[in-house]
This record gives sequence, structure tokens and C-alpha cells, in this order.
Amino acid sequence: MACVYDFDKVIERRNTNSFKYDALADTFGRDDLYSLWVADMDFATPDFIRDALRERLNHPVLGYTKPYDSYWQSIIDWTRQHHDWTIEQEWIRYIPGIVKGIAMVLHAFTQAGDKVIIQTPVYHPFRLVPEGMGRVCVENPLRCCDGEHYRMDFDHLESIIDERCKVLILANPHNPIGIVWSREELRRLADIAHRHNIIVISDEIHCDMALYGNRHTPFATVSEAASRCSITFAAPTKTFNIAGLVSSYAIVPDERLREHFFSWMSASELDAPTLFAMVATEAAFTQGEPWREQMLRYVEQNVDFVADYMAEHHPQIRVIKPQASFLVWIDFSALGLSHAELVDFMVNRARLAMNDGAMFGKHGEQFMRMNVGLSRSVLQSALQQLSTAIATL
Ligand SMILES: Cc1ncc(COP(=O)(O)O)c(C=O)c1O
Repeated sequence: MACVYDFDKVIERRNTNSFKYDALADTFGRDDLYSLWVADMDFATPDFIRDALRERLNHPVLGYTKPYDSYWQSIIDWTRQHHDWTIEQEWIRYIPGIVKGIAMVLHAFTQAGDKVIIQTPVYHPFRLVPEGMGRVCVENPLRCCDGEHYRMDFDHLESIIDERCKVLILANPHNPIGIVWSREELRRLADIAHRHNIIVISDEIHCDMALYGNRHTPFATVSEAASRCSITFAAPTKTFNIAGLVSSYAIVPDERLREHFFSWMSASELDAPTLFAMVATEAAFTQGEPWREQMLRYVEQNVDFVADYMAEHHPQIRVIKPQASFLVWIDFSALGLSHAELVDFMVNRARLAMNDGAMFGKHGEQFMRMNVGLSRSVLQSALQQLSTAIATL
């Protein structure tokens, strides 16, 4: 009989050195908050992954480990089965995290003063990493046409490109808004990038969490131009809740980009996989489908729960339902607070730790990003606490 997983179970994560819980006080000034920020989930990492790690631990030696075929094959098979993309083993390299992967691409292909394009509001390290490395971030803000659907602004993109623009970082699917980009939009982006010799880093860490029947499109598959100009990053870490193990990979179909990037990484052994990353990735990609499907149905119900709750109790608050992943982008402008007041209100009166929308770019003001990868009972209590605070305004 198929296994039925329990996502309702509440697991105590405090005092496990969890960033999401044990960094609350340092980040928000207090820790008596519902933790709806850092993008990992409060669900148990699936048993088949923990079993695989335990089994490896039964061998008493944890020495240097040779990357092995079944690890690479699990990535190849998963990518073909889930995204209809046939990749070759020589196109893939382990990377020690996607944020570090972005830094590595910038090191390998750009110089201080070069420009990096980001489409805001977007995952904040897309700005922090380039700026920290002395690169210049240029924004191509997303356009919201109808209060709900966001699009890339291609006219504005063309207008900001000059010869210093070397890289564009794409969140595909998008974080924080949860957009699953259409093939057509990705193709237009690829045409522009390829024409201007811009490398597209397609960060596809959320690719295995498309919701409500949406389908993820790998950027590199949309056209010849896209496969020529792109470096794709993906990982099982978000989907299977193993971010602490640090297991990501780069896929680079273009030989010229590949040779430069991979030789740059291997010169410093930055592409050497760690033992537990390989064990967990293979377990996730070979045994994870039933868990993934059940987890996504639960997340969809949580998103619906938030949307329905707000519609019933606070119809003025606008919930943008994600097409992928467990992060919900919520517009609180109707509360009539300044952005600083809104941030203070959420922490000190509603007692909720959410990501301040402004950290994703200035168009994120008045928004908060809520992580709904948690048990519904806790989510419900958090929303009720929010209502109590709103009633005092
Ligand atoms: C779009 C996106 N990219 C990258 C990351 C982090 O990836 P890593 O932990 O592999 O650096 C996150 C985590 O929230 C993310 O949302």
C-alpha cells in the first residue's frame, strides 16, 4: 500500500541550530514569533532520505568519496522524467549551494564594475552577492498588469542593456512571487540575452514545486539561444527539505561556457560533492516522487487556506497565490501603515516573523513573504494572531 505522509505533525525545531528558529532573536529582536520566514519547510525530511543517510553511517569510515555514477544518473533521470530535458553527464557539476554558485559564475565570467541584471522584486542574494563582489546591479522591475499577474518588461530590459551588462540572474520559478514563467517569455528573454552576449544564470531551485497543475519550463530548453547562453542551477534541497546538507548542481549545455566555468571550479575543487549530499540527492531523486506529490498537495491546501482566510476575515489584504513553491506574496498596503510601521506591526504586535518585502527590492514595500511550508494548525494559529493584532489598529 502506498505510504501516506503526515504533514500535520508539529515538530519542535528550536534548539536544533535551525536558522529559521534559532536566529529569530538575532534577526527580529525577539523569538516569541511564529516563524514564517527562512525558505525551508517545517515538515520532516522524508524517511527514505534519512534512512539512506543512516545506512551510509553504518559503515564506520567517512573518508574522501569519489562521485559515483548512480548519483549523476539520478539527476539525469529526474530531469528527463520531470522536466522533459535530456541532459548529459558531462554537462553537470556539483556546486556547494546556489548562492555560492552565483558568486562562482560572477568570479569566472565578470570583473569589478561589470553589470548584473536582476528582475525585482527578487530573492535578495541576487543583489547582495553581485554588490558584495563590486559588480553593479541593474534592475529590470517586473510589471504587474492586473494586480495579480507579473510579467517581464522586455522594452525596459532592452533600454538598460549596455556593453557592461554581462550576466542576468533569473529566478525560474520566481521567488518571492512564485511565478512559473511561460515558454514564450523565456524565449524572448533568451533572444535578448543571447543577442547581447549576456549569460543567464537560471536559478531553478524551486522547479520541482510547481503547484495547481502549472508546469515548470527549464530555461535552457526553450531555444537554441537559451541553451547557448545559460547556466542552470537546480537542487533537491527545497523540495525535499534538505537545505542543511548543501546539495546543488549546475547544468551547462554550451561547451564554451562549460569549459570555462567547470575548469574554473575544478581548479579549486569547488565542484567536489560531499558524501551526504550525494547520498541524500540520490535517495530523493530515486524514491521521492510519492512524497513530493503529497507535499505539494498539502502546500496547495495551505496556500488556499491563507487566501480563503484573508478573503473571509481581511478582504482588503491581497494574497498573490504562487504558481510554484511554498512562499506566498501578500500585499498589506490596505492596512494603511508606512512600510516601517508594517514591519514593526508584524513583529511586535502580530508576532509573526515574515520576510519584509522590501528586502527583495523597493517594489516589495508594503508586501510580506509568508512561508506556508508548515502544519496547517500552526498556520491557522498564526493567522488568528494576525487578526487579533489587526483588530487593534
Ligand atoms: C531562488 C532561490 N535561490 C537560491 C536559494 C538558496 O539556495 P542555496 O541554499 O543552494 O544557496 C533560495 C533559498 O531560498 C532561493 O529561493
